[in-house]
Amino acid sequence: MRVLKLEIDGKAVEVEAEKGKTILEAAKSIGIDIPTLCYHPALEPFGACRLCSVEIEKRGRKKIVTACNYPVEDGLAVNTKSPEIIEIRKMLLELLLARCPEEGKIQRLAHEHGVVKPRFKLEDERCILCGLCTRVCEELVGVSAINVINRGVERAIGTPYMELSDDCIGCGSCALVCPTEAIKREKNIYPTTAEDTRAIEDRFLEGERDAELGVYTDLIAGKSSLDGQDGGIVSSLLISGIKNNLFDAALVVHRKDGYGYKAEAVVVEDVAGIRRAQGTKYLRVPMMSKLEEALKAGKRRIAVVGTPCEVRAVRKIQQQRDLEREFPGVEITLLGLFCFESFDYEGLKERTKREFGVDLDKADKTQITKGKYIVTVDGEDYSCDVRAFEDVVSEGCPYCDDFVSRLADISIGSVGSTDGYSTVIVRSEVGKKLLDATEFVQAEVTKKEIVKLVRFKKKRADKNFAVIMDGLAT
Ligand SMILES: Cc1cc2nc3c(=O)[nH]c(=O)nc-3n(C[C@H](O)[C@H](O)[C@H](O)COP(=O)(O)OP(=O)(O)OC[C@H]3O[C@@H](n4cnc5c(N)ncnc54)[C@H](O)[C@@H]3O)c2cc1C
Ligand code: SF4
Ligand code: SF4
Ligand code: FES
Repeated sequence: MRVLKLEIDGKAVEVEAEKGKTILEAAKSIGIDIPTLCYHPALEPFGACRLCSVEIEKRGRKKIVTACNYPVEDGLAVNTKSPEIIEIRKMLLELLLARCPEEGKIQRLAHEHGVVKPRFKLEDERCILCGLCTRVCEELVGVSAINVINRGVERAIGTPYMELSDDCIGCGSCALVCPTEAIKREKNIYPTTAEDTRAIEDRFLEGERDAELGVYTDLIAGKSSLDGQDGGIVSSLLISGIKNNLFDAALVVHRKDGYGYKAEAVVVEDVAGIRRAQGTKYLRVPMMSKLEEALKAGKRRIAVVGTPCEVRAVRKIQQQRDLEREFPGVEITLLGLFCFESFDYEGLKERTKREFGVDLDKADKTQITKGKYIVTVDGEDYSCDVRAFEDVVSEGCPYCDDFVSRLADISIGSVGSTDGYSTVIVRSEVGKKLLDATEFVQAEVTKKEIVKLVRFKKKRADKNFAVIMDGLAT
């Protein structure tokens, strides 16, 4: 084992060469704090804010480096508080305070460094361009829903072309890691915090607030006359909604071009279009841009069928934007599906071929039930443990904590009901009206089966969020 010996603020430190530590980590190990803004231990260092600047001296030569990404070297003398370093930090904080005068964290850091009133023109920004949000989304969540867009003084965080994000799953990781309030204000992504969830529930839903199932009034099982994925309830609700003039169009998911397993979101206005959407495609299908397109094309009364992440996105849009002003007369009915996870199309296809020798694109039906993945091809069922597909789960799903689409007007799934039935959770007046207009055979639900899955999914997300939280605590 090779040991690197260095000094930080006059204190000797020894670091195992193989561990590849940075100056920031070495300093921390001996109790020396260096201020940071764009650093998080679970993410690749970025060197954006430069607040962690320190002075190093090697063989008589001095230079300024950023401690968060500078590797320790043998014989290095580091000064974290030299007069020059203090001046650099003060200048950086003065600039940041001028950019974001209302930001609590910047105000605090500025105050600690004796910066009171910036000499520069004050702006009204929240984002300090530290890049933590883009990195957490890309490196940990794996979704890459946001990037740094534009150049120079126009630099900002956003979705490409500032369009609504089709990739954001609303997990909230970016908001969690953001040192300021910037991400919570972003209109093209949907970080949904516990506070947001509560506010959305208060505004759109009604009923008892259940810790596991969310706000609801009715929990039943139902079977319609349609041959759907489970009880065909989703399609029946959509058909009766259109027939009873509760909405004019529905945003649903079809198999692309009518064949294969690849799927796409489409706006339909008739029974044929709704029926063509029957059956679950276990994929994440971009829907937000389709919804925006439909609204811009003049559609106003739309039902959206989506997974919890899509439902969350729609609610965030309703919450953040004034849709009524943008699209007068807009009415969105949200039918949320239960969802534990979805899969990457290419991965699922390749794995299905490898496991069973059959082509996913030729599947009559796919099901995930009681821990089994079942694919039906030419009338024959092939099944295996769904865990065999773990590594082709869509990126982002491990950070998602909503199983029952808790922000929808009405949620539908299979867990909790016997085969051939759908579980239905009514969460609003809109959902109740839709269910009342629909014919189906009712049955009992086993609530504890749903609760088990809700808890299991939440536990998985909490475990992943802990990695982000740990970094914030340091
Ligand atoms: C990715 C995914 C994972 C799911 N995981 C679970 C689970 O773990 N446990 C559980 O109980 N239920 C799960 N469901 C829900 C379940 O598979 C059924 O969709 C639900 O029970 C409704 O059945 P149905 O017979 O009423 O639907 P149908 O009448 O057959 O209608 C199906 C509807 O689902 C929509 N749809 C199909 N695929 C997608 C998609 N990828 N994205 C958005 N909408 C889609 C269609 O537009 C259609 O309107 C999942 C659904 C999806 C899409
Ligand atoms: S909410 Fe999650 S998926 Fe969306 S931008 Fe933030 S980190 Fe990425
Ligand atoms: S688990 Fe389901 S709801 Fe959550 S991000 Fe994945 S597809 Fe969306
Ligand atoms: S924390 Fe090192 S450059 Fe930002």
